[in-house]
Amino acid sequence: MRLPAAFASRFVAGETPQTAIAAGLRLYQRGIRATFDLLGEDVDDRASAERSAEGCMELLRAIPPTLERNISIKLTCMGLDVSRELCLALSTKILETAREVAGFVRIDMEGSAHTDATLEIFRELRKEFDNTGCVLQAALHRTHEDVQEAVRRGDRVRLCKGAYREPSEIAFQGTTEVRASFKRSAEALLSGGDHPALATHDEELISHALAFAQERDLASDRFEMQMLYGLRPRRWDGLVQAGYSVRVYVPYGTHWLPYFYRRLRERKENVLFVARSLLSG
Ligand code: FDA
Repeated sequence: MRLPAAFASRFVAGETPQTAIAAGLRLYQRGIRATFDLLGEDVDDRASAERSAEGCMELLRAIPPTLERNISIKLTCMGLDVSRELCLALSTKILETAREVAGFVRIDMEGSAHTDATLEIFRELRKEFDNTGCVLQAALHRTHEDVQEAVRRGDRVRLCKGAYREPSEIAFQGTTEVRASFKRSAEALLSGGDHPALATHDEELISHALAFAQERDLASDRFEMQMLYGLRPRRWDGLVQAGYSVRVYVPYGTHWLPYFYRRLRERKENVLFVARSLLSG
């Protein structure tokens, strides 16, 4: 589907690696780092998975040396639903390419049907690579244990709330519970994690993390705050001016619809933004 420039382009940097890299260079000029994401998910055949992996490797090679070669990938794009072996083989190739260009690959977390398989493959990759990290979702009941395990293993974690609707048997449903879970895991990561990334636009959680770090005198380069392209750009600058490390998740590609839909579902202001863009033509 073509990118309808007027509204999706607020959340998606463009359709090509070049447009994403141009966005990354603009961020760099503001002192902000990027992680690039070639959009796509739920691939169900080998050829598509191979194409996705090839796209990620091309991206890694295309990012200029001025920028960090930092990308985020989804294992369902690498054939996780086709076979574990295919997914592991393609992810290994991506990590090898990343190693050649001194790059880093973050493995995004998807819906709970994929949590175990994603963590299992991530841990397998970690035996050979130290240029990769995972994502854990505060909404899931299991996450605090996963965070503690990651701290023990020295894994690099991005903590987020979780973008997928999950049932109450396995996930917190209310804002208060999800925030409490995020704070607890953020404290564990800030206390003992390897360069944790706290990914949220929620001011209560941002303030909590910064206050916790300040109380413990944690150097601001020991962790980073992450946000999504198009969301709270003024806050990125404020954090940079205050001396914090900020990384923005820069998605691009033609398969933008599920990502775009998750952003709309999260926040009514995003829907209003789209409605206004459509009405103003
Ligand atoms: P949420 O959307 O719940 O908003 C809470 C509050 O934050 C609002 O009430 C408001 O106060 C403030 N706020 C939010 N947006 C604002 C705005 N635009 N302007 C002003 N205030 C605003 N998910 C996942 O399942 N797997 C993954 O791998 C990732 N990866 C990821 C990377 C990065 C860098 C980020 C930032 C997020 C993810 N996510 C993710 C998505 C994440 O799980 C979550 O769905 C969204 O970040 C939304 O939750 P928030 O905590 O940001 O606040």
